[in-house]
Amino acid sequence: MNVWRRLSGRRRAVALAGASALVAGGLVTLPVTAAHAATQCDVTYTTNDWQGGFTANVTIRNVGDALSNWTLGFTFPNANQRLVQGWSARWSQSGRNVTAQNESWNGNLATGASTNIGFNGSWSGSNPKPTSFTVNGVACNGGTPPTSTPPTSTPPTSTPPTSTPPTSTPPTSTPPTSPPPPGTRVDNPYLNAQGYVNPEWKAKAESVTGGSRVSNTPTAVWIDRIAAIEGTDNSQSNGPMGIRDHLDEALEQDADYIQFVIYNLPGRDCAALASNGELQADELPKYKAEYIDPIAAIQGDPKYRNIRIINVIEVDSLPNLVTNTSGNAGGTVMCDTVKANGAYVQGVGYALAQLGAFSNVYNYVDAAHHGWIGWDSNFTPTAQILKEAATASGSTVNHVHGFIVNTANYSATIEPYVKITDSVNGQSVRQSDWIDWNQYNDEQSFAQAFRQELVGQGFPSGIGMLIDTSRNGWGGSERPTAAGPTTSVNAYVEGGRVDRRIHPGNWCNQSGAGLGERPKAAPASGIDAYVWIKPPGESDGSSSEIPNNDGKGFDRMCDPTYTGNDRNGNSMSGALADAPISGAWFPAQFAELMANAYPPLS
Ligand code: GLC
Repeated sequence: MNVWRRLSGRRRAVALAGASALVAGGLVTLPVTAAHAATQCDVTYTTNDWQGGFTANVTIRNVGDALSNWTLGFTFPNANQRLVQGWSARWSQSGRNVTAQNESWNGNLATGASTNIGFNGSWSGSNPKPTSFTVNGVACNGGTPPTSTPPTSTPPTSTPPTSTPPTSTPPTSTPPTSPPPPGTRVDNPYLNAQGYVNPEWKAKAESVTGGSRVSNTPTAVWIDRIAAIEGTDNSQSNGPMGIRDHLDEALEQDADYIQFVIYNLPGRDCAALASNGELQADELPKYKAEYIDPIAAIQGDPKYRNIRIINVIEVDSLPNLVTNTSGNAGGTVMCDTVKANGAYVQGVGYALAQLGAFSNVYNYVDAAHHGWIGWDSNFTPTAQILKEAATASGSTVNHVHGFIVNTANYSATIEPYVKITDSVNGQSVRQSDWIDWNQYNDEQSFAQAFRQELVGQGFPSGIGMLIDTSRNGWGGSERPTAAGPTTSVNAYVEGGRVDRRIHPGNWCNQSGAGLGERPKAAPASGIDAYVWIKPPGESDGSSSEIPNNDGKGFDRMCDPTYTGNDRNGNSMSGALADAPISGAWFPAQFAELMANAYPPLS
């Protein structure tokens, strides 16, 4: 699939280069119809405006000789009118000039025929309509032809079509006559929507006995290296499908939404070793040019305009700048470096600005989890740094649709038997060893409160939260079924908590964990969805050192014999033995997650 696509892209480029070489060389074997045809056109341009945005519907009527391809051109009257995303043509904007070049299926326009195209745009100040239009360089609506030479065969500036190779005959089937509904931004992209099932994860899940019970669950596609954009089959954590392959497959599945994890910051995973990545701390320019820009080029392809593309942005990154820099227990040099050089803040801002420009793309920024950010000293500073990143590198808070908590972590969504307001013999449960003065004891209460904090910091009031429930089920025989004894706060919390970890700071391949709530839209106030972002059964890190080419280190938190550090209260790691490197398939873990699922699997 991939191979064909790459070949076809190159073949196309060669074909175009060949065509212009013929023109330049003055050979006269070119068909002359285009040059001598009388182009005449009528263009109608109507808009539906709202504050800051608009949808434009454009009808091109050919009143001249038949056309086999066309390029519409017009100029926005104002500098702050922008094309955001178009359909039924290949759209691009340069300065105030906009061009729309036909798709393979609507290039033929017989005399008297019309075609409808459109786009979503943004504006500020006012949104006046363009006053003149051209088709193939010739003015329409009885306007004066431009004095400059009309372009002959302008190569497309937007993404080349991936479906039909350029030399083949256009399909004879009738193209859509009215524009498909644009990918209008909705408040909750998960609501009444069918999620994309990643076939690569599905196959791995089905390789384990009983896996077919959950293998049709939507899970996220992790773009954890540059090579994952195109797809790679020589890494342990990525399959051969690239972003386009997944999006094309999502079209096949008729999915309403697809989830990607944008995960490749310079100096990634600065407080741990298991998920260190390929980019060094000083490689922000490479992150922008070779990672984010190509992703934006694909996600912005109008072919995918009707799919809601959900991006989880850079797991764990910004919270690390708050709690794991020097001055904090266990702070690291790498976290200091990426804080000082702006790699995380600028990188996240750039990702938000580039990907958030498309109306069908929804960015959710990672906001760690309650067992990290739930203490007063971390709560507001984290919201502040999230705001700083959301307004860096050209981003605004409007490029953020919401936030996600518990990504790849194990904290329970709801602790049914230990409420933070409970007290035992006059002592608050916050004094227990487990809660240790945290203000929260589960993810849902944390997510709802953190949402309020973020709105208070200046994020739009419509932001929604996601909770990764892929591995926080904590079912099985160890799950308490009632509150603990009221002999002491510790006895009460130990006996009642469903999260059975040794310490809430443990994060690697946790023994005893189970699959959590299946993905669900709008489960509670302020929560857009429960989602499965970490694909269950993919390792968090190797339990002993394993040489690899992925930049992955060995973190002792994944070693079951490790006795811990400051960040987990010097507790045992609670990690499963015999784990492969992070991202690699770990069937024994998947089997245990199914056995301990909560709600249980039937
Ligand atoms: C870890 C890995 C990454 C993988 C992801 C999902 O973060 O470092 O490579 O894609 O988990 O399993």
